[in-house]
Amino acid sequence: MTIETRRLGTGVGLEILGLDLSQPISEATRRDLDDAWLTAGILLFRGMGTSPERHLALSRCFGELDIHPVESIRIEGCPEIIRLVNRGDVDPIIHFLGDEEIAGLIPWHSDMIYTTRPCRGALLRMIEVPPQLGQTGWIDTVAAYDALSDEMKQRIEGLEVRFEFVIDICDMRFGRPENLRHGTMGTVDFGTLPPVVHSMVWNHPESGHKALMLSPVHLIEVVGMDRAEGDPLLEELVAHVTDERFQYIHDWEVDDMVLWDNWRTMHRAAGTLLGADREVQRTSIRGDYEMGRLL
Ligand SMILES: [Fe+2]
Repeated sequence: MTIETRRLGTGVGLEILGLDLSQPISEATRRDLDDAWLTAGILLFRGMGTSPERHLALSRCFGELDIHPVESIRIEGCPEIIRLVNRGDVDPIIHFLGDEEIAGLIPWHSDMIYTTRPCRGALLRMIEVPPQLGQTGWIDTVAAYDALSDEMKQRIEGLEVRFEFVIDICDMRFGRPENLRHGTMGTVDFGTLPPVVHSMVWNHPESGHKALMLSPVHLIEVVGMDRAEGDPLLEELVAHVTDERFQYIHDWEVDDMVLWDNWRTMHRAAGTLLGADREVQRTSIRGDYEMGRLL
C-alpha cells in the first residue's frame, strides 16, 4: 500500500490519501505514516474511521496507547478508546459566547500540559456531527515559532512559563475568547493539581524542531519575571501563535479521523449549541518524556 499526502487548506497539516484500513497496515506503511506525522504534526484521515477496530489499528501505528483513568467513559471492549459526548442528558459545562449558550467549548490548549508528562498525541474519530458548530481547530506551533523575528527568538530563548489546570475557561489569563461569560460548571469534581513549569520553546524530542508551546487555557506567567513585564510579552506571543495562518479548522463528517502531535500543536473545540448532540471517540498516544517540572 502506498499512501499519498496532500497539504490541508491552510498549509498546516496533511491529509492522508490511499490508506486502506480494511487491510493490515504493513511496517513500511506504518513508517510512512509516522514520518508524515513527525513532518506535519496534524494528519487528516477522511472517512476512514468506520469502526473502533480501525480506529485502534491506526492509533497503534504511532505508539503505545494510554488507558484513561475514568472507566465510565471507556467504550466497551476497547479500553484504549474513550467517548466524549455533548448530549441533552449529560450534565454539560456551559458558557455564553455573546447570547449563545455553548456546551463543550475549550479554547486553544495542549493536552495535559499542566503535568510533567503531556501525552504524545491523540487520534479523534467523529461519531455524531452536530447540526451547527462542533469544529475542532489545530495550530502548528513549529510554524509559529519559525515565523517569529530573530529578536523575539533571542528574547524568549531559555524562558520558562508556569501552567496550571484551569477549570473554568473564564479564568484564562491569556487568549480568552471575546464575549465569553460564565454559564454553569456541571457537577464534575476536577480536584486540584500543582503548578508545572515548562520551557516556553520546546525542542521536540523526536524531530528536533522548536515549538512555541503556550497553551493559553493553562498559561499563568513567565517564571521569574514581573507580571508587568511578562504579561505583555505573553499577550504578544499568544496573539502571534493563535494567528489564522498557523491554524487548520476541521469541519467534521462522520468517520473522519484527525491525529495530532501534542508536543507541537495546540487545539480548540468550538463546542455545540446547548441541546445539540455530538460524539467523538479518542485514543491517546503515551508520552515517554518528562517535559517539565513541578513548581
Ligand atoms: Fe484537548
